[in-house]
Amino acid sequence: MPDYVRLMRHEDIDQVFEIDREAFPTEWPPPNFKRELENRLASYIVACNAAELTEETEETEEIRPQSGLKSLLSRVSRLFIPDRLPDSKWSAKGGEHVTGFAGFWVMADEAHITTIATRQANRRQGIGELLLQSIIDMATRREVRIITLEVRTSNTTAQQLYTKYGFTQVGLRRGYYIDNREDAIIMSTNHITSPSFKAQLKEIREAYTKKWGPDRYPMGT
Ligand SMILES: CC(C)(COP(=O)(O)OP(=O)(O)OC[C@H]1O[C@@H](n2cnc3c(N)ncnc32)[C@H](O)[C@@H]1OP(=O)(O)O)[C@@H](O)C(=O)NCCC(=O)NCCS
Repeated sequence: MPDYVRLMRHEDIDQVFEIDREAFPTEWPPPNFKRELENRLASYIVACNAAELTEETEETEEIRPQSGLKSLLSRVSRLFIPDRLPDSKWSAKGGEHVTGFAGFWVMADEAHITTIATRQANRRQGIGELLLQSIIDMATRREVRIITLEVRTSNTTAQQLYTKYGFTQVGLRRGYYIDNREDAIIMSTNHITSPSFKAQLKEIREAYTKKWGPDRYPMGT
């Protein structure tokens, strides 16, 4: 059963809210996901594990023949549907279990990760990495130069994830978090299209596929 990432939809909000409260119980008020989905600067994605996914076969295509123009339009539209399943040969027949989510804003040539969380029961299964890979891919397609974020000084788990993907500390915001006045570490990548960043990412991805197998689909692959 593949894990994949797609754009968040309104019908995901209940599950995302559950994950958000579990991950950030002290952060109040909780994010308004409905409003965020309408924010043109923001992109939100979810990692899913579909209850039942079926692979579309050549036969399925043949059962529903289309006229030349209709077929061409359908093929072209597939290329531009942003939240299609990553490799577009999968279709979800059952419900989708949301295992994680993430959001980022793009402003000028910078993407800023606003949130990322994995459902507690699904942690340490490579979901956080899948989401981060998806953000990097989406940012690269939007010609973003760097990706930044803030993380609590005490959150060494998340810091390890970011460090693995080439983020380094570039600053500190004192008393940034309202709940306990904790400091935030500001982390940033180097230029994400630089040969060194790309080479590092390629290596991490190869190790990821080796560890988790080929049935994992970051957004847009
Ligand atoms: C941070 C978080 C998103 C990681 O998600 P995850 O799906 O468990 O992460 P993955 O399984 O993809 O792990 C990837 C990497 O993260 C780091 N990591 C994850 N869990 C870790 C842990 N318990 N201890 C140390 N490192 C950890 C490791 O570098 C790991 O790579 P490795 O397996 O090669 O060691 C998750 O712990 C979470 O939701 N935390 C609560 C919300 C949060 O703090 N979000 C970040 C806000 S800035």
